[in-house]
Amino acid sequence: MREGEDVLIRAIRLTVWSVSLCLALMVGLLMVIVVPPQSRAIYDQRILPESNSNWMAPDSTAIPETPEGDLIRYGRELVAHTSVYLGPSGTIRPLSNGMNCQNCHLKAGKKTWGNNYAAVAATYPKFRARSGSVETVERRVNDCLERSLNGEALESGSRELSAFVAYIQWVGKDVPNQTTPEGSGIVDLPLLPVAANPQIGEVTYQRRCARCHGQDGAGVKKDAEEWLYPPLWGPESFNTAAGLYRLSRMAGFVKMNMPNDVGADSVQLSDEEAWNVAAFINTQPRPQKFFSGDWPDLSTKPFDYPFGPYADAFTETQHKLGPFAPIVSAKAKR
Ligand code: HEC
Ligand code: HEC
Repeated sequence: MREGEDVLIRAIRLTVWSVSLCLALMVGLLMVIVVPPQSRAIYDQRILPESNSNWMAPDSTAIPETPEGDLIRYGRELVAHTSVYLGPSGTIRPLSNGMNCQNCHLKAGKKTWGNNYAAVAATYPKFRARSGSVETVERRVNDCLERSLNGEALESGSRELSAFVAYIQWVGKDVPNQTTPEGSGIVDLPLLPVAANPQIGEVTYQRRCARCHGQDGAGVKKDAEEWLYPPLWGPESFNTAAGLYRLSRMAGFVKMNMPNDVGADSVQLSDEEAWNVAAFINTQPRPQKFFSGDWPDLSTKPFDYPFGPYADAFTETQHKLGPFAPIVSAKAKR
């Protein structure tokens, strides 16, 4: 009797195993047939966001009580409350749009995947394709002032520019030269196999973002100088030459940081939602600014740079919203 039962159980197990194996093989085969090889390659290359970044921002209370320390502290203050000093009614010189650096470089540029400054000290001065030249940290700060803060550059040698640089260098001081720690800057999301869709993104926007940034994306003021919730488009937002105007930068920033209380281990949006909401935001009106010296070598334009001319035959619309995989692989073949 026991013997018979055993045989029966073994027979059932064998059947279950073979059926599962067949199913797995069929699914595998289907993937190979259905998913085009291009997008498979892109998905394989995805950088997996890690919440346990090996980078730890230094502790601000450890900034030394020296003149150099004072400059670093002033720099941190300028990053966190830029508008108070350099905004439309700034006490030092009105030269920017009222946003703070910290609105985009979260926690004064110290948050993992929060567009932080971890890699700056270790990698600048560096060659940047946008200008086709070697850029200093000073130059990079001024880039954000002119583009992300839709304003003007600070004079080199000014106490403010020196303070920005001193603080940013201090944030990345423990990072080994020429390295970029995991979790620095903005994450690169896997590319979607299709174009990002602003209409679908708008639904996500109204459900997940409008309660803070407003239905019209215009933001909410905290007081006369600063934003409680900064504007995402409209006259007081960043201009079309800013980094966030590239879809991959906006999508990566939003995925890892928005709504405002999420981090790498508590993301709330799928990659697809992040791309689509980014597409909605970046198809709304905002200040236009063009720099004639940008991208002297057209072939170095990023796949998602939304303004032609290009070194390839893809349209501006495809460079703006995707699908990006064909652009990336065409470039790789060149
Ligand atoms: C509207 C958003 C926004 C604001 C405001 C902003 N930035 Fe940026 N900043 C960016 C983006 C986007 C990048 C590029 C990130 C990337 O390409 O991955 C960037 C890059 C930088 C970098 C280079 C980082 C690196 O690792 O190469 C520095 C330095 C910087 N910003 C400083 C500043 C300073 C200082 C301010 C305030 C005066 C400021 N930014 C304001 C969005 C912003
Ligand atoms: C709970 C409120 C809240 C929600 C919800 C929220 N945000 Fe934000 N967002 C903020 C705050 C606050 C900042 C500025 C952070 C700072 O200054 O420390 C910000 C900054 C940003 C920025 C960079 C600054 C700028 O103005 O361009 C972008 C882009 C952004 N949010 C997009 C989104 C998107 C997209 C969603 C919906 C998926 C969203 N946010 C949901 C509060 C929110």
